[in-house]
Amino acid sequence: MSAPAGVHTPSGIDLGDPEFWRLPAPDRAAAFAELRRLDAPVVFTDRATGRPFHALVRHADVVTASRTPEVFLSGPGVTTPEPARWVRTVFGDSMVNLDDPRHADLRRIVSRAFTPRLVARVEDSIREIATGLVDRVVAERPEEFVTAVAAELPYQVICTMMGIPDRQRRQILALVNHASENTGVARSRIRVPGRGLRALARMQSVIAALGRERRRRPADDLISALVTADVDGRRLNSRELGAFFSLLLVAGVETTRNALAHGLHLLTTHPEQRALLLGDPDTHLGTAVEEIVRYSTPIIQFRRTVATDFELHGNRLREGDKVVLFFGSANRDEAVFTDPEAFDITRSPNPHLGFGGGGPHFCLGAYLARQEMKVLFRELYDRLPGLRSVGEPELIPSSFDHRVRALGFDY
Ligand code: HEM
Repeated sequence: MSAPAGVHTPSGIDLGDPEFWRLPAPDRAAAFAELRRLDAPVVFTDRATGRPFHALVRHADVVTASRTPEVFLSGPGVTTPEPARWVRTVFGDSMVNLDDPRHADLRRIVSRAFTPRLVARVEDSIREIATGLVDRVVAERPEEFVTAVAAELPYQVICTMMGIPDRQRRQILALVNHASENTGVARSRIRVPGRGLRALARMQSVIAALGRERRRRPADDLISALVTADVDGRRLNSRELGAFFSLLLVAGVETTRNALAHGLHLLTTHPEQRALLLGDPDTHLGTAVEEIVRYSTPIIQFRRTVATDFELHGNRLREGDKVVLFFGSANRDEAVFTDPEAFDITRSPNPHLGFGGGGPHFCLGAYLARQEMKVLFRELYDRLPGLRSVGEPELIPSSFDHRVRALGFDY
């Protein structure tokens, strides 16, 4: 399918081709820098759907699209390929794929239970879990960071917040891994929905059963808050609870684990930045975490669908057009960041879009993720000052997230 009239498709760069996402990171960064310099709207064709999409690669455009939700809709789906309609009917809509008023309605309920106050209460657990993980590293001497540490921390934190009993955590993790391997978005071109969805259904029924139990006997946890919170006469039903938990796992575990793994590798490959951080963690830890999220941008892109004709940076968008918000490109925009290719843990201000461009869908877990990263890095470097990644991270090529499958480490 050819691009609509008046738009530009630069030769040699094709964001719609899965092969583009296998290129080395510096080549992809150079391609995005070229796209940002083009003074013309850019359109590519998605190979999976055969449909064109506008690529928003500049910081200002991603911010505008994120903060104009009445024009840039999430309802038709924010991932590529979009979830099948029947999947959404059977498993419930997750918040990322909703627009107002349903989005505001759901977000009001979950934010009530997901406040900085609740997260502050969880901080002790984050510390306890991080300490336990480092104890295990010291005792068992594992050689791979993602499985031993980076994936474990956010998963245990979410389970603790939700109130998932210890005995059920392994079973749920196995079901989630199974589901995400088989229904992963844009990660694999071969999708086997049946297998993944059965695991998802099992997982949701485990959560629904916990929800019913907490409705009868509320405890001091997020599941209880979600099933008993009464906001404007509404509380979450079992299907919504299951959909929300799945979203938390996908949105909260994978992203944080990837940020932690990229963070360790970035601090290893930039020894002067590592020395700065270890020399004065009180001063630098907060800005270091922001820079890790900017530089690694764990979620590369989300999509929106245009509701009404709209002009964006000279780009005439038509109703029904697909636009893709490239957070990673926005985070290297030289119009906003001085020397954007430099990893600089003292960068301030750092208005990165790693947690989204603002607006109603801004990452619900941003505060939690920052706390997890700060607590873990402090615990790791305090107790293992020689901590380093070993070799190159094993990456999973994807247009959707910067996923690290494995990362060697030593200490
Ligand atoms: C470094 C870690 C993380 C990164 C980089 C990240 C990134 C993002 C991004 C880019 C979005 C989309 C924002 C938008 O469209 O405007 C998002 C949404 C979301 N994130 Fe995160 N996230 C992280 C951690 C977490 C954690 C720990 C949780 C929860 C435990 C979480 C829960 C969510 C939820 C529920 C949404 C959907 C919000 C909505 O649609 O209203 N995230 N995140």
